[in-house]
Amino acid sequence: MAASAACPISRSAVQHDLDAPFDWADDSTFDIVLVALVIHYVHDRVATLAELRRLLRPGGRIIVSSSHPTADWIAAGGSYFEAGHVEETWSGGMTHRYWRQPLQAWLDDFASAGLALERLVEHQPALSMAHEHPTTYGKLAREPGFIAYRLAASIPASA
Ligand SMILES: C[S@@+](CC[C@H](N)C(=O)[O-])C[C@H]1O[C@@H](n2cnc3c(N)ncnc32)[C@H](O)[C@@H]1O
Repeated sequence: MAASAACPISRSAVQHDLDAPFDWADDSTFDIVLVALVIHYVHDRVATLAELRRLLRPGGRIIVSSSHPTADWIAAGGSYFEAGHVEETWSGGMTHRYWRQPLQAWLDDFASAGLALERLVEHQPALSMAHEHPTTYGKLAREPGFIAYRLAASIPASA
C-alpha cells in the first residue's frame, strides 16, 4: 500500500537533554516512549521517568533498555549492591560515566516515578552472531549484557 499524504504519523524530531523537563511537550502526548540505552546516563532518573510518564497517553507504555546490573557489577567490581557513578575510559580515549545500581533499585526507581513493570527481558545473542563474533557471542550467552523493561503508568508519580 502506498504511503498516504493523510498518514497520521508525526515526522518531527526534537533534540532534548533528558535532565531537563519536557516543557515543549503536553501531558498525554505519546502512546510509546522508547528510552534506549540512555537512562543510566541521566542524573535524576526518577525525575526523568516521572516526566516521561506525564507524556504518556492513557494505556501508553515506556520501554527502557540499559546495561544489565550484573554486567555493570562485573565491569566495576566491588559489591553487586553498590549504587553510584562509574567512570570508564573506552578505547579511543572517550570517558564514559554512568549510574550503576542493583536490579531492585531500578525497580524502586520505576515505582517512585509512578510506573509499573509489565515485562522484563534479559537479551541473549542471536545464534547468527556466533560465527562472526564468537568471543562476544560466548560472553553474552554466558553473562547478560543488556536488559529491557516495559512500563505502564500505575499510581500518580510521587514527588
Ligand atoms: C549508548 S548511546 C545510545 C544511543 C541510542 N539510543 C542507541 O540505542 O543506539 C547513549 C546516548 O545517550 C545520550 N545521552 C547521554 N546523556 C543524555 C542526556 N542527559 N539527555 C539526552 N541524551 C543523553 C548520548 O549522547 C548518547 O547518544
